[in-house]
Amino acid sequence: MSPIPKTAPFAEEEIDLLNRVVGTASPIQRAWLAGFLAGIDASGGVLLPQPATQARPAEPLTIVYASESGNSEKLASDLAKAARKNGLKPNIVDMADLELAALTEAKRLVIIAATWGEGEPPARSVRTYNELMGESAPRLDGIEFGVLALGDTAYAEFCAIGKKIDERLAALGGKRVVDRVDCDLDFTEPAARWIGDAVKVLTPPNAGGRVIEVDFGAKPAAVPGTDIVEAKIIEHVDLNSSRSDKETMHLALSFEGSAPAYEPGDSLDVYAENDPAYVDELLKITGLAGNDKLRTEFIKSRDVTTLSLKAVEIYAERTGHHYVKALIAAGQAKEWIAGRQLIDLIATFPIAIDAETLRALTRPLAPRAYSIASSRREVGDEAHLLISAVRYDSRGRARKGVASNYVAERRKRGDRLRVRLKPNKHFALPAGDKDIIMVGPGTGIAPFRAFVQERRATQAPGRSWLFFGDRTFTHDFLYQLDWQEALKDGALTRMDVAFSRDRPEKVYVQHKLWERRVELVEWLDGGAYFYVCGDAKAMAKDVRNALVRAYADVKALSPVAAEQAVSALEREKRYLQDVY
Ligand SMILES: Cc1cc2nc3c(=O)[nH]c(=O)nc-3n(C[C@H](O)[C@H](O)[C@H](O)COP(=O)(O)OP(=O)(O)OC[C@H]3O[C@@H](n4cnc5c(N)ncnc54)[C@H](O)[C@@H]3O)c2cc1C
Ligand SMILES: Cc1cc2nc3c(=O)[nH]c(=O)nc-3n(C[C@H](O)[C@H](O)[C@H](O)COP(=O)(O)O)c2cc1C
Repeated sequence: MSPIPKTAPFAEEEIDLLNRVVGTASPIQRAWLAGFLAGIDASGGVLLPQPATQARPAEPLTIVYASESGNSEKLASDLAKAARKNGLKPNIVDMADLELAALTEAKRLVIIAATWGEGEPPARSVRTYNELMGESAPRLDGIEFGVLALGDTAYAEFCAIGKKIDERLAALGGKRVVDRVDCDLDFTEPAARWIGDAVKVLTPPNAGGRVIEVDFGAKPAAVPGTDIVEAKIIEHVDLNSSRSDKETMHLALSFEGSAPAYEPGDSLDVYAENDPAYVDELLKITGLAGNDKLRTEFIKSRDVTTLSLKAVEIYAERTGHHYVKALIAAGQAKEWIAGRQLIDLIATFPIAIDAETLRALTRPLAPRAYSIASSRREVGDEAHLLISAVRYDSRGRARKGVASNYVAERRKRGDRLRVRLKPNKHFALPAGDKDIIMVGPGTGIAPFRAFVQERRATQAPGRSWLFFGDRTFTHDFLYQLDWQEALKDGALTRMDVAFSRDRPEKVYVQHKLWERRVELVEWLDGGAYFYVCGDAKAMAKDVRNALVRAYADVKALSPVAAEQAVSALEREKRYLQDVY
């Protein structure tokens, strides 16, 4: 763009020079320059030593994110970029680090919040979330706010945390200026639209430039090194014995060229395909069998198993099915969905549907995350995964998890697998001289294999202590030889194991923590980092409770003081979780 015309009262080379500067300037820079020059004129042509006051300070925008696997965090950064372009001064805060009192100073506030567990806040955000919901939360009178909620319609408590935060901010006196949007797993487009709207609404007219229209529908630029890549499976081994009732696959992946630049604690997203037998049955009961193009599409790219409330509503609306409508009208649909899949809806309330209706009942097939179980410093350009095949019965049907069975049953050595690096800087190793305590029953052990390999490769002097648990010593001791080796060469200092089905009484990792409580508290008092990975429903909570009880017992603390001791570890980022 050449804003200075050839007719301007300057020499030709001066016009070129000005255009080189002004032509590439942002609206904020142009506004500043205009104000600055006007200021000089107003002062009689004298350059007064106050040019900074000519620029209007950018209006602040506080962006808080509550995130576990990084989606909300990434959106917070997208929002900040867009806000900055519009002359706002964004300040991004992880909810984990937020002091609520600071919110009272905010003029404009956006919260981007994910829901985890069964309608719970992301682990790191629990403390702040509880304070926000608690009686002593500060008033937020007049603060303009908007909430973007992230979730998954497969869960009964869809976007529960975003919804509750939105209500709470209003109850505390905040002024909702952007309506909440609840995003499903395919959040890219709705989230980008919401960000576009939010920035428009939250930008005051005097924000140091005019509002720029940004193409929020455009695909966001990929973070370097996180593209989807094809890996080759070079090892595909069941680590459980043939007499175990579990199947946990160890996968070694190789890459054309270098492996994605992962660090211990990161995961890989695996892009799986559906079970063709399931898709065939689904197409048969919908009357769509024989359509090969549709079959391929549904195997490769649609989520054909999840049954959400939204899908039930769409089914009722599109088919007009009397009984499904009655189920919704009676408020029983949510309850009916539990333990069922899309195939149950159509099999129970059969009606012929067209391809478009079936497509409308499904969402894009989402990848599944798996912790990386190796360190590049030990395995070079490979990445290892540990994947437990999910199989269970419910409502009279045998069910199989999509991705875990794709890998366990339909992939073998030599096959390809599409994966994408999912970095997790919140579950990283500390400096090498720090002690680490790792609690990882079942597949929760995976990232700790990466930790131990990394510590060996870097000859880290810090001590490391691993707690592992599974069903039986003989059939389910995942990576047993690795741990024995690591204990021998010193990469692992100690290991405690809990096998729940070896003895009449059940023993879990939390029992081992309790048994070892004196040394545990000693390690933590000496600055050790505490890591938990694996089951979020029961294990992670039981482990935390065990640690609180350990503090209370070893240090003779009241339950409240012991809770504060563990909270302090969380605040110091020495209690880290990656649970699912
Ligand atoms: C950050 C992160 C790291 C992870 N790391 C690992 C890892 O290292 N190894 C690993 O194996 N997994 C890991 N997971 C879990 C993994 O991503 C998948 O969720 C898991 O493999 C199941 O995926 P699936 O496609 O096989 O099953 P899906 O098709 O997604 O089915 C799973 C669903 O089935 C239902 N379900 C499962 N069991 C039962 C039951 N007994 N009764 C009733 N309903 C049930 C639940 O609704 C569940 O959500 C991780 C998850 C996250 C978020
Ligand atoms: C173990 C697990 C539990 C989850 N629980 C819920 C839930 O109860 N309700 C919901 O709406 N979404 C749930 N989700 C979906 C997440 O909210 C969703 O993946 C979101 O994009 C994550 O955002 P984040 O990366 O910022 O943490 C869950 C996801 C996982 C892996």
